[in-house]
This record gives sequence, C-alpha cells and structure tokens, in this order.
Amino acid sequence: MAYRDYQDFLDALQAAGELKRIGEPLSPYLEISEVADRVMKAGGPALLIERPVGPSPRTGTPDPSSAVMGHPSIHPPAPSPSREFGMPVAINAYGSRKRMSMALGVSDYEEHADRLRSLLKPELPRNPLEALKMLPGILREVASTPPRSVSRAQCQEQVMHRGDFDLTDLPALTCWPEDGGPYVTLPLVFTHDPATGKRNVGMYRVQIQGKDECGMHWQMHKTGQRHMEGATRPMEVAVCLGGDPALAFGAISPLPPGIDELLFCGFLRRERVSTIRCKTLDIEVPADCEIVLEGTVDPAEKRLEGPFGDHTGYYSLAADFPVFRVQCVTMRERPVWPATIVGQPPMEDGWMGKAVERIFLPLIQLTVPEIVDMNLPVEACFHNVAFVSVRKRFPGHAYKVMNAIWGLGGLAFTKFVFVFDEGTDVQDIGEVLFRIGANCDPGRDALHSRGPVDQLDHASQVEGFGGKIGFDCTHKWPGESGFARDFPKLIEMAPDIRAKIDSIWPRLGL
Ligand SMILES: Cc1cc2nc3c(=O)[nH]c(=O)nc-3n(C[C@H](O)[C@H](O)[C@H](O)COP(=O)(O)O)c2cc1C
Repeated sequence: MAYRDYQDFLDALQAAGELKRIGEPLSPYLEISEVADRVMKAGGPALLIERPVGPSPRTGTPDPSSAVMGHPSIHPPAPSPSREFGMPVAINAYGSRKRMSMALGVSDYEEHADRLRSLLKPELPRNPLEALKMLPGILREVASTPPRSVSRAQCQEQVMHRGDFDLTDLPALTCWPEDGGPYVTLPLVFTHDPATGKRNVGMYRVQIQGKDECGMHWQMHKTGQRHMEGATRPMEVAVCLGGDPALAFGAISPLPPGIDELLFCGFLRRERVSTIRCKTLDIEVPADCEIVLEGTVDPAEKRLEGPFGDHTGYYSLAADFPVFRVQCVTMRERPVWPATIVGQPPMEDGWMGKAVERIFLPLIQLTVPEIVDMNLPVEACFHNVAFVSVRKRFPGHAYKVMNAIWGLGGLAFTKFVFVFDEGTDVQDIGEVLFRIGANCDPGRDALHSRGPVDQLDHASQVEGFGGKIGFDCTHKWPGESGFARDFPKLIEMAPDIRAKIDSIWPRLGL
C-alpha cells in the first residue's frame, strides 16, 4: 500500500495504536530527545510532539497562489502564537519491526525480500555470470513505476525566499548535550551528478548553522560527496523532509549503481512517486513532502560541522564539511517535522537498518550465492559486525565470502566478519557464540585485512580507512590449510528417537 504522504503514514500509525500524541510542551533542545530515547528503549510507540516550544516562532508568509488543501488531522486545533514552533514533531515513527513494515506498506518487510527473491526465480544464481543474466529482469520490474512530474504540489503551499525565512525557527532537534547545534535528522538530500545528470537521494544529516546556512554531512564514501567532487561551481542541492516513508528507506538503501532511489521507491510502494520542480532549482522533489530547503553547496567552501551524538553511541567529532546555503524554503500549509535521534543502540535507526539487511539479502545473494543468511547485529551498529551462514562447498570457502563482503557496497565497511556453516542460526546470538567458541582457532582461522571503514569510526587509525578481521567458524575440512585432523560431529539425537519421543511427549506430562 502506498501512502499519500508522511501525514497519511502518521494517520495509519495512529489508527493501528502505534502513535501517541504528546500535548505537553517540549523543547527541541534535548527534551524531545530524552522523551524519545526513553520511549524507544522501552519498546514504545511513535510520538507526535504537538507543541514543540522554542525561542521564536516560524517566519514567512504563505504563498496563496500555490495553496492546496493541507492535512487537518495531524495538527492540534489551536497552535499557540508565541514561543511555539509552527509545526508538530514526529519521532520514532520507524522504531519497531511493525512500524518499519507499515512504513514500507506491508505487514512484514520480509515481503519485499520475497518479492525480490521471486524475481530471481527459478533459483538463486549459482555463480556471478548467472546473476548478471538475471539482472535485466529485476531492473525491468523496478523500472515499471517511474516518477512522474506534476505542476502543483502541497510541498509548495508556502514559498519563502532568502530574507523571508530563518532556519533556526524550524523545530530541528538538538539531540545530545554536546551537539554542535540543531540538526535535520531525517533529510532526503537530492543532488545530480554534474557529469551525467543522474539523480541521487541520500540521507545525510544537516546542521542548522544560521538563518540560511547549514552544514552538509555527506561522508567521504557517499554519493553526494562524489557529485560535489565533480562540480566546478556551486552545486544545486534540495533537502526534503517527509513524503511516503518509502522515500526515506530509498535514501538510506545501498542501491546498486544505476538504480534511482525514486524508481526503487515506486517499486516498493507499487505506485509512482509524484515530483515537482523546485521553485529555484532544476531539481525535481517529491510533491507530497512536508518541507523543502532549496540551495547550493560550493565545492570550494567548508566549515566545521558537529560534534553530533552519533549512531556509534559516541559523539562524532567536529570536522570540516561542505556548507549548504539555502536560498528558498517551501512547505505545506501545515507541515509536520519528521525527526529521529541516534545514539547508543538500540535506537530507531536500528529498525531502519534491519529492514535494509533483510530486503537487500536477496540482492547480496545475487553476487554471493553461497550466503544462506546474514545478521548485522543492531548492537554493533550494523556495519561493524556480520554473522554470515554459507553453503560450504570447497576448502577456503569462508575466506571467499569474507573477501566478497569486504568488496560489496555498504557491506565493505564491515570490520568483523564471522562465517558459519549453513544450519547455524545466525539470528540466534547464543548459537553464534557456541559456534565461534567450538569451531574457531583464532591462530589459524582469522584473516586480517584492510579497507574502507565508516568515516565515523573513531577506533580506526586513519579516518575512513582501517583494519578488518574475518573468522572462519565453519567445520574444517581435511585439506584446509593448517587443519590435519578429523573434525568431530556435532552432537544430535537420532531422528527415529526424536520422532518417537515427539509422539509420546503429551503423555509424559512435561
Ligand atoms: C538516520 C540516518 C542518518 C544518517 N546520516 C548520515 C550522515 O549524516 N552522513 C552520511 O554520509 N550518511 C548518513 N547515513 C547513511 C546514509 O544515508 C546511507 O549510507 C546511504 O546509503 C547513503 O546513500 P548514498 O550511497 O546514495 O550516498 C544515515 C543513515 C540514517 C538511517
């Protein structure tokens, strides 16, 4: 099911008992964060903070020429005129398996993985050549719901040009006490490759640094940064908030090169994304989003950005990042401010990351077909640790898989890879620890490597580049280097005895 927009999704959460409205005034400066963190850690609902209070109200006047009906149900009936931001803040909207699945329009997000898997039928490929032959079919399906451009849109009900708006009036969250300022934490950042014109949508935090200036935190490995490196003059950038939540999922997804995020979003929601041209940029943005910041990033200009209480559970240190100069702000008549906070896991982004892991597994299996299952534990921030089960077919197979992972898109950042035999339930941490302890000789079964690591990794020797280690936790085969003995069998009960005890179990009264 496709959502009309972000507020439609919030309505669905509320109808499902998954959203709680908070009428108590709360400040975007730390207070919303503290409430959201407590609720998240307790497994609670999404929150709609109806009255964020702050130092000054939102500025700007509606543009009557582009007025379209707003969405009445989300807003409190009588917004207070002073010391209140003009819009409610939504947070934790993706913070559970159920809500993340609802965001993607399904009862469970594995349905999207199954959809991708069914496109790969009759079987997962046995080798990369077969995988390549299957790719056109998948691309065709994904391309069947391309975005379409419209001429009027809710996201342009209000239009404010430089001088008429003050970004510090937006209810952007200061999440943690030592944060460098307020941040847009769920932004969809639209850029185009200056050479090819190809669009990218990435989620990169945006720090509000002044009434029309922001820090743009696209990291060194990300597409936004690559686009900027190709620009010889200030590059147009649009930052959007809201829209169908499938858009946010597209923005965080490690999509294969060549797949447009808006196409992918159309595939997920089985409906095209409507877009509208920005008021001052040659960029199409989702027509039904809440707010759009239109501006430019000059490749020659950098400024200190951060610190920021990050998804690593630590503050990422302040560092030089590009400056995003905003020239126009458009928004709905009555927008909602979508927000999240990251910090010590488990946090809301953990659920977003889990959905990426499950939905992208079939695509990973396209390239590494021997992978049976994969668990990137939330507690290890996803990219730090991978537990992988494989169909082992030849000596050294575990090392092939480790090297494949270190060469694959976002998975390349993985620092620790543990490879297990098929039949190991890698989702069960108890079983994972049992197999590591029982089957792995650290002196022989570890492979040290090096490569790119997450730019936020504070443990690596150099920013963005560091060590990796893989552990072969499979049963060793005769002939595997350094293993000269028989590998013992795992203790298992005889099947006929299990069946007999199953049949008399009810009589045992246990
Ligand atoms: C809540 C959240 C915040 C994120 N913030 C950033 C960020 O500030 N900078 C960044 O480079 N990546 C950030 N990411 C990760 C990127 O969105 C992700 O790597 C995405 O795939 C990048 O897209 P790209 O490959 O098109 O650059 C964030 C992800 C989430 C879920």
